[in-house]
Amino acid sequence: MSDRKDSAILSVRGLKVHFDTSQGVVRAVDGVDLHVKTGETMAVLGESGSGKSVMALAIMRLVPIPPGRIVAGEVHFEGRNVFQMGANEVRRLRGSTIAMIFQEPMSSLNPAFTVGEQITEAIVLHQGIKGKEALDKAIEMLKLVKIPSPEKRVHEYPHQLSGGMKQRVMIAMALSCRPKLLIADEPTASLDVTIQAQILELMKELRRQVGTTTLLITHSLGVAAEMADRATVMYAGQVVEVAPIRDLFHDARHPYTKGLLKSVVNMKEGTRRLDVIPGAPPNPTRLPEGCRFHPRCAKADKRCCTEEPNYVSVGEGRWVRCWYPET
Ligand SMILES: Nc1ncnc2c1ncn2[C@@H]1O[C@H](COP(=O)(O)OP(=O)(O)OP(=O)(O)O)[C@@H](O)[C@H]1O
Ligand SMILES: [Mg+2]
Repeated sequence: MSDRKDSAILSVRGLKVHFDTSQGVVRAVDGVDLHVKTGETMAVLGESGSGKSVMALAIMRLVPIPPGRIVAGEVHFEGRNVFQMGANEVRRLRGSTIAMIFQEPMSSLNPAFTVGEQITEAIVLHQGIKGKEALDKAIEMLKLVKIPSPEKRVHEYPHQLSGGMKQRVMIAMALSCRPKLLIADEPTASLDVTIQAQILELMKELRRQVGTTTLLITHSLGVAAEMADRATVMYAGQVVEVAPIRDLFHDARHPYTKGLLKSVVNMKEGTRRLDVIPGAPPNPTRLPEGCRFHPRCAKADKRCCTEEPNYVSVGEGRWVRCWYPET
């Protein structure tokens, strides 16, 4: 799978990240390709355990080694090989070039410091301004993410804020170093529905204002539809489909993607999600031969059970990893 190299700010090629566990080798990410173009929002979709977060951690060089191992592949950011960067360059990459927002805002905010102290720390480190100027900048960031009374909130501690407010602070911190790429890993999953909608609206507005390239990891097709330009669908550590978001919704080609889409429709109709794609994702220490989706795929034949499909192009910017992509 290849995209025009000039437009990709982030390229992941053939990435394999495995973990050595007492149950065996977990092939968490097992041959992943991903290309993100400057300015776009790329959604990464897939069920729990499909390797979305591990891929994100690998991009930031944050996979714990051991038990993790980078077995194969490369990550290029603005043409530079992330796996070959020295310690200083990696620090810059994590601190200011790429920012990450995690699912659990509480675990990423330090309970011992005020909101202002945490945002200004990032600003002082990456923008070279300090004191009153940095504090003003922190207040400005809180305003940007629509936190009411920012002059007061800036002096509060994380426990004084609601979940939604904490996630806004996380977004403010992430954006305060003006990252070239924002990786948002389930940024709204821990929040209730109304707050989720508010945060997504905020992210959309910030995107219009700031235009940050975003890698948005999510379980939710609804969130992807709302936010993304394109989507990469993962299954059992691999990419099974890449498509512009509209094509994905109107003309998905991989049976897994089709199943996901149907499950959303069925959920709206009130039936259970698991009725739609029978079975469960494979045990990552014992992945099936052939296509990894074949045990759950109604269309699988003998070849699917024995030979692993590669990506095939099914149109402009569209890739699918299936032996029968046209049907
Ligand atoms: N430190 C680790 N040690 C061992 N296995 C791990 C480790 N981190 C992740 N894994 C395994 O790697 C696989 C992929 O995990 P990952 O967290 O990337 O899934 P995910 O797609 O982000 O799922 P979710 O949607 O639930 O966040 C899982 O089987 C997980 O158990
Ligand atoms: Mg995850």
